[in-house]
Amino acid sequence: MTANTKLVPPGPVERSVLGSLTKFRRNPSHLMVQYWQEHGELYRMRLGPYWVYVPTHPDHVKHVMVDNLRNYSRGKFFKNFERFIGKGLVAIEGDEWAKHRRIIQPTFHRGSVGNFGEIHTAGATELVQRWDEHAAAGETFDAAYELFAMVLSTFGRTFYNMDLSVYAEQFIPGSHEGMLQLIQNVLIPEWVPTAKNREFKSIRNLLDDIVARIVDDHRQGLCGDHDLVSTMLKSYDEGQMTLDQVHDEVLTLLVVGTDTTTAALSWALYCLTMYGEERKRLEEEVDRVLNGRVPTVADLASLPYTMMFLKEVLRLYPPVWILTRDPISDDEIAGYHIPAGSTVMTCPYLVHRNPEFWENPEAFVPERFLPELEEKRHRYAYIPFGAGQHQCVGMHSSLQQMHITMAMIIQKFKVELAPSGSVIPSAGLTMHPADGVRVKLTPRGTTH
Ligand code: HEM
Repeated sequence: MTANTKLVPPGPVERSVLGSLTKFRRNPSHLMVQYWQEHGELYRMRLGPYWVYVPTHPDHVKHVMVDNLRNYSRGKFFKNFERFIGKGLVAIEGDEWAKHRRIIQPTFHRGSVGNFGEIHTAGATELVQRWDEHAAAGETFDAAYELFAMVLSTFGRTFYNMDLSVYAEQFIPGSHEGMLQLIQNVLIPEWVPTAKNREFKSIRNLLDDIVARIVDDHRQGLCGDHDLVSTMLKSYDEGQMTLDQVHDEVLTLLVVGTDTTTAALSWALYCLTMYGEERKRLEEEVDRVLNGRVPTVADLASLPYTMMFLKEVLRLYPPVWILTRDPISDDEIAGYHIPAGSTVMTCPYLVHRNPEFWENPEAFVPERFLPELEEKRHRYAYIPFGAGQHQCVGMHSSLQQMHITMAMIIQKFKVELAPSGSVIPSAGLTMHPADGVRVKLTPRGTTH
C-alpha cells in the first residue's frame, strides 16, 4: 500500500540529541504508558536517531502483524536480539524463517503438547517438594529463581531430551541479565567498548558454550534421536540447515522459551499473593476437581478458572511486552504517516489496557476470559503470544505447563509476599518482577 497522508502523530517534544532514549533505557514501560496518556492512541517518540511509532489499538496490531505484514521487517531492534541469541526463528526472515519454522513447528503442535504433560507434572512435583522444605523451615525465598530452575529443567527434558539443571547456575543469571541489557544497551553499536557491551559479549560466550555442549552431546548420540535438537541435526544431515543455524536455533529456543515462561509464572505467583477473592476461587476449583490428586493433562479442561486467572495475568503482565517491526515502504496507520525505515513498536502492555476493549483495565478480573466474553472481543485486543505468522510456537506448551504448575502450587500452599518483597516490573526485552518474587509459604492443610 502506498501512503498518501503526511500527517505526523502527536508525541513528546524531543529536545535532547538522544530523544527519549535515556528515559526509555531507564524505565521503558513507565515511559510508554506516560506518553500514551499524554499523546493518545498512536504516538511517536525518538530513540537516538530513530523515530518509533507506538500503536495501541487492536486494529493497528492487525494492520502491522497481519494485513500489511509484507511491508514490515523485524527491523533494527531485532538486530540487538540477534547479537544475543543469534540468527534463530526470532531474528530471521523470509524463506530462511519459513524453512526453519517448518522444521521446528511440528514439535509444538497442539496434538503433541499433551505428551509433555508428564514432564510438566514431574517438574511441578519436584518444585512443590522443594517448596515443602521452605514451608517447613518457615523461611522466605525468591520463588522466581526456583520457577526459572524448574522451567529450565522441564524445557531440557521436553525439547532436548537432557537434564539442563547442571547449567542452571550459569544460565539463569546470564540469560536474565542479557534480556535486560537488550533494552539498556539498545542501539549502542557492538564495537563501542562500553562495560555493558563487554558484559553482553561475555554472557553470549557463556550461552554459546552451553549450547555447544548440548549439540555435541546429541552428535555423540548421548540423547537419543527423538527430540528437537535431533530433528534439527537431521535437517543438517539432509542439507537443510547448517551447523551454525542449528546452534543458533538451539540457543534461541532455549533462551526465549525459558525466559518467557518463567516471567509468566512469576507474575502468576505474584497475582496469587495479591488477589484474595480470586485465590479462594482457585482453591475451591483445584480442591473440588483434584481432591488432593496430582493433576494430569486430562484434568485441565475441568480447571477453567485456573486458566482464566492465568490469561488475566498475561493480560496485565505480558512477558513479551513490546513487538517491533520496521516498515519497508511508507505506510499509513489511523490516518498517520509511518515512514519507511522508522520502527513500529506494538506494545501488548498498552493494547491490553486499552479501555475501549477492557473495562476498568487495571483491575484484575479473570472473568474477562469467560468463553462468551472472549468470543465477542476484538481478536487483536489480546496478544500475549503475538499475532499473525510470527505468533509464538511455544504457546500451547507453556500454557499447559503454567496450568499444571499453578494448580499444584495452589493445591499445596498458601503463598504470601514476604514483608520486604515489593514487586515492580523491570522491562528488558521481556517483563519480569524486578527483584524476583520473595514469598513465604504455609502448607494448605494447616490453613483450613
Ligand atoms: C508464556 C510464555 C511465552 C510468551 C508470553 C511468548 C510470547 C511470544 C510472542 C509475543 C512472540 C511473537 C514475537 C514477534 O511477533 O516478534 C513469540 C514468538 C516466539 N516464541 Fe514465544 N512465548 C512464550 C513461550 C515460548 C516457548 C516455551 C517457546 C519455545 C519453546 C517460544 C518460542 C518462540 C519462538 C521460536 C518465537 C518466534 C516465532 C516466529 O517468529 O516464527 N515461546 N513468543
